[in-house]
Amino acid sequence: MTFTQNHLLGIEPLQPAEITTILDLAEDYVALNRSAEKHATALSGMTQINMFFEASTRTQASFELAGKRLGADVMNMAMAQSSLKKGETLIDTALTLNAMHPDLLVVRHGSSGAVNLLAEKVNCAVLNAGDGRHEHPTQALLDALTIRRAKGRLHRLTVAICGDIAHSRVARSNLLLLGKMENRVRLVGPPTLMPAQVAEFGVEVFDDMRAGLEGADVVMMLRLQRERMDGGFVPSEREYFHRYGLDAEKLAYAKEDAIVMHPGPMNRGVEIDGAIADDINRSVIQEQVEMGVAVRMAAMDLLAG
Ligand code: NCD
Repeated sequence: MTFTQNHLLGIEPLQPAEITTILDLAEDYVALNRSAEKHATALSGMTQINMFFEASTRTQASFELAGKRLGADVMNMAMAQSSLKKGETLIDTALTLNAMHPDLLVVRHGSSGAVNLLAEKVNCAVLNAGDGRHEHPTQALLDALTIRRAKGRLHRLTVAICGDIAHSRVARSNLLLLGKMENRVRLVGPPTLMPAQVAEFGVEVFDDMRAGLEGADVVMMLRLQRERMDGGFVPSEREYFHRYGLDAEKLAYAKEDAIVMHPGPMNRGVEIDGAIADDINRSVIQEQVEMGVAVRMAAMDLLAG
């Protein structure tokens, strides 16, 4: 077992062996979550505070359930109503919470780098639940576990990440993780939604969806992050679906046994045809949600357990 991190701020600092350690422990938690037992004691007596400065349903629920399954006292701060509205800085809020002696802080924030800054100011383990366009490490880890279970391995796979790459922390964390584990990553989407520094990533970039999906083992679809756009990035949603939306005709270019993924929230008829999302022979979207709880249990156990 290899794991030397004090925080989980991103995929960037993780060694491949640490990624494998998290995924292997998560496998134990998948089994536990499927059993009648459902509970363990790794975090009993510990305090976990969730601070979500950006809207979230599945990620916050997943972290909350993960903490409770491990026996932690879990507190959700309603950050939208917090003193930040009264002008308090992120750091002052963090220092206030730090004085309550939490063992784990789970933080989502709209600014890239905010969670790293916060981690420098507190004494407990910090988990990044998504910061701006930067990283969303537990999403990449749950995606990795889903892929490993569906494909039987997590190396030498061709993974097409499709859609709004520029605004996506999910794409960034996945790109880093899949690269570290020696997979072939392709980014597929309109040039207006590719990050400016895409050439530095060392991956193949496709504007044409069919060419990008050709022979792929995994097709990962992303939402158009309208809240991070100033407008003008895409024409109409109908036009977007026509060119970049995943439907049966485009999916036929991928391998016959290719799996379809989506981190949610999903916009049916924009980036994905609802029939594909619901096709249990192709879509692993529900498995991703299940793996999310197990991966978060594993990460919190390794950091504080
Ligand atoms: C993603 C996020 O917040 O980055 N959602 C999630 O965590 N499941 C993706 C998105 O918002 O589109």
